[in-house]
Amino acid sequence: MEKRVMILGASYSQIPLYQAAKKMGIHTIAASIKGPYSGFDHADECCYVDISDPQAVVEAAKKLNIDGIATCSLDLGMAAIGAVCEELKLPGPSKEAAFRASNKREMKRALTRAGVQTAAFVEVSDEKELEEALNKLSFPVIVKAVDLMGSRGIYRCETPEEARENYKKTMEETKKDYCLVEEFIQGEIFGVEAMIQNGRIIYELPNNIEAFQGDTPSPVGHSVPFRQMDTLGGQAIKQTALAIHALGLDNCPVNCDMIKKDGKVYVIELTGRSGATGISEMVGIYYGLDYYEMILRVALGMEVASYFPEDHQGVANLTHTLMADQAGTIKSIENTIPADDNILEVSFNVEPGDEVRPYQNGRDRIGQVILRGKSLEECESRLKKVLAGIQLRLNEKM
Ligand SMILES: Nc1ncnc2c1ncn2[C@@H]1O[C@H](COP(=O)(O)OP(=O)(O)O)[C@@H](O)[C@H]1O
Ligand SMILES: [Mg+2]
Repeated sequence: MEKRVMILGASYSQIPLYQAAKKMGIHTIAASIKGPYSGFDHADECCYVDISDPQAVVEAAKKLNIDGIATCSLDLGMAAIGAVCEELKLPGPSKEAAFRASNKREMKRALTRAGVQTAAFVEVSDEKELEEALNKLSFPVIVKAVDLMGSRGIYRCETPEEARENYKKTMEETKKDYCLVEEFIQGEIFGVEAMIQNGRIIYELPNNIEAFQGDTPSPVGHSVPFRQMDTLGGQAIKQTALAIHALGLDNCPVNCDMIKKDGKVYVIELTGRSGATGISEMVGIYYGLDYYEMILRVALGMEVASYFPEDHQGVANLTHTLMADQAGTIKSIENTIPADDNILEVSFNVEPGDEVRPYQNGRDRIGQVILRGKSLEECESRLKKVLAGIQLRLNEKM
């Protein structure tokens, strides 16, 4: 019988998941609120539901007779996946684990309890507790909403005055009546992508993050192999495994953000879905497989371990987000680099007439480059050539 999978999210970043399902002969049901989302066109069936509302998704899933539920590159449906998997007894993380993965307070409590290396933090629900937190932690600190994503409600603060101001902002943005204050780890961000099935960690892949330096750095690209594999790889792998078990995640992909500082790695956050900004493509190229297919296999309870042999010689590769360096309206955009087996993707999500501006967040992306090479160095020099060959002409704003 044809398997039926509900996919949470219908934006362009979930399209590869719909495409992989189609290749595998899986019937897809796109779950999302209504809107002009291009993922709907790739699904066999649509289910209009607010994926940030776990109970609503459970009710919808019960009627649809599904065999599995999955998402990618999107946090919004994480809690719903846990709720659906538990209530409908489908392969996937438990309700509690998914809840811990989508609330930063529960996450930090679990990580700290399990002895995972993570930034010191204090829970704050009023101004008095804020002052106590500021006395206890050393600056800079980061004031953090527990329920938002994409760096929203998250502010770096150099002084107590800044922290007081940002606390007000965070409390206006969050739906909760509390937030966190964390010590700010001044280091370099990197990631570990992983997968767990039936309590066994299938693979862990530390990777470099290319970060856009905003108020807090945000990823605009990923690459492998990890530059400090020899010195920090073991530690990163061990801390990620500890963190996965601390949250109780199982039968799901895992995306873990870390910071390295003075030879030590810190877990910033982790969740039970695959990462964005090209991570699934990166993992796929490294292991020579379609990672979206693996995400679907896990969601359907099909084994994945045999696809990730321990002695696998990975393929170096990188993904890079394209962005404009000026504001304006696009006159023309083209890639002038000749086709090359190692350049796997140069794509644009904008066209002539579209407005662009210098990068501030993910919505300012204008395209993506994915390439591979014999080494990371080769990938990096290949990227330079590709970037030099992309011609973006703008009608500049007056
Ligand atoms: N304790 C910390 N120290 C240093 N940087 C941090 C810390 N917490 C968060 N950040 C930075 O802020 C970014 C966003 O925080 P994160 O907790 O990952 O929330 P989000 O859900 O918005 O991604 C992180 O990727 C990291 O760059
Ligand atoms: Mg994050």
